[in-house]
Amino acid sequence: MLSNLAVRDIETLVHPYTNLATHRETGPLVLESGKGVFVTDSNGKEYIEGMAGLWCTSLGYSNQELVDTATEQMKKLPFTHIFGGRSHDPAIELAEKLKEIAPVPISKVFYGASGSDANDTQVKIVWYMNNALGRPQKKKIISRLKGYHGVTVASASLTGLPNNHIDFDLPLPGFLHTSSAHHYRFAEAGESEQDYSSRLAAELEEMILREGPDTVAAFIAEPVMGAGGAITPPEGYFEKINAVLAKYDILFIADEVITGFGRTGNMFGTTTYGMNADTISLAKQITSAYFPLSAVMMNDTVYQALVDQSRKIGTFGHGNTYAGHPVGCAIAIKTLEIYKRDKIVEHVRKVEPTFLRCLTALADHPLVGEARGVGLIGGVELVSNKASKAPFEAKKGVGAKSVLFAQEEGLITRAMGDRVAFCPPLIITEAEIEEMFSRYKRALDKTLNWVKAEGLLAA
Ligand SMILES: Cc1ncc(COP(=O)(O)O)c(C=O)c1O
Repeated sequence: MLSNLAVRDIETLVHPYTNLATHRETGPLVLESGKGVFVTDSNGKEYIEGMAGLWCTSLGYSNQELVDTATEQMKKLPFTHIFGGRSHDPAIELAEKLKEIAPVPISKVFYGASGSDANDTQVKIVWYMNNALGRPQKKKIISRLKGYHGVTVASASLTGLPNNHIDFDLPLPGFLHTSSAHHYRFAEAGESEQDYSSRLAAELEEMILREGPDTVAAFIAEPVMGAGGAITPPEGYFEKINAVLAKYDILFIADEVITGFGRTGNMFGTTTYGMNADTISLAKQITSAYFPLSAVMMNDTVYQALVDQSRKIGTFGHGNTYAGHPVGCAIAIKTLEIYKRDKIVEHVRKVEPTFLRCLTALADHPLVGEARGVGLIGGVELVSNKASKAPFEAKKGVGAKSVLFAQEEGLITRAMGDRVAFCPPLIITEAEIEEMFSRYKRALDKTLNWVKAEGLLAA
């Protein structure tokens, strides 16, 4: 029996990333409040938020300092834009702080309001820059199958997931996808991680040569693939990719929308994996998700090209109303201050062994083929046969079923096909990590009973 709120939801909302047909029967999970790593629904049931919302509420759900900072900024200057050379203190101070902690030399910062628009900006900057440099044919962008970069027309074109393309008439021409980097699923029998990485780098090089290096402008990658299934890269992968990109003068865009700000046990995933990034997209944990804010950080070569071109054209004709919103920037400055003061990166490193021990212990379960992670992000892959790695038929929704059972057990997590992700708030304690995984273990046991009852296990 659906609650009154649920009925009103169904009659009024189109939900993002939702099966709009089944939603009419199942209705929403309505959350009402949050404290620390816990959220509470409209029936008073409490859950561990094992996904930090959408990989974003790093400081949890009840950070009073962020609330106070937002309130103060709202009272002082609730809005001003930064078009036409207008500015304000929080926008300037945040850019300075981001430059200070950037993992590679960064010259300037451009603000937006979402990860998608940051990656959209990346695409436009690459095109604009290459026009400025007098190479108008160097425009193609390579991303990876299973990579996720957002939902605008350009960022969804970068994304390598079928659901973001089918019937949206995407990707646009000029967006190419090379293989994802998932050793468990795609390595050949007996192939080491290093050899698999070499093969992927060679494949990327072949693609560049086939297309013509003077037509390929940029390559974009997440340090850890998020929406593709919480997939950590194989050993040596980015080192080998760096070399290919450098050889053909191809810009490296790091999409740190999930991994930025401590998630992988360093301030940035770029550092964790040694990525030679030229530009970096940031969002989500930049404000602990207390306000929509994103940023593109760029090196000086990119910046100088933008300056030259705007000298020629008369303007840099890009940007949105809420770019550098003073409330978002003030919250981000406070968030960065808390990360530093509370040693959040050190905390992630301290609890990482517990997280990885509990995560990898799931691999003993009959349904789990792979369990792997880094820092405080990881994924498990559910399979119908562990020895052959045979997947379940996608439409049986085994991953999604395990997430529903987890919800019963008081845990929110997320299935991407039959991969299930764990990405809790960075403030999580060791005891809460243990509790999170024991709830998921119970959910897996229920899933196994269901899978057996449905006859879904491969022989
Ligand atoms: C790596 C990555 N890039 C970009 C995006 C898009 O960000 P947004 O949803 O804020 O547009 C996401 C969202 O999850 C993401 O994970």
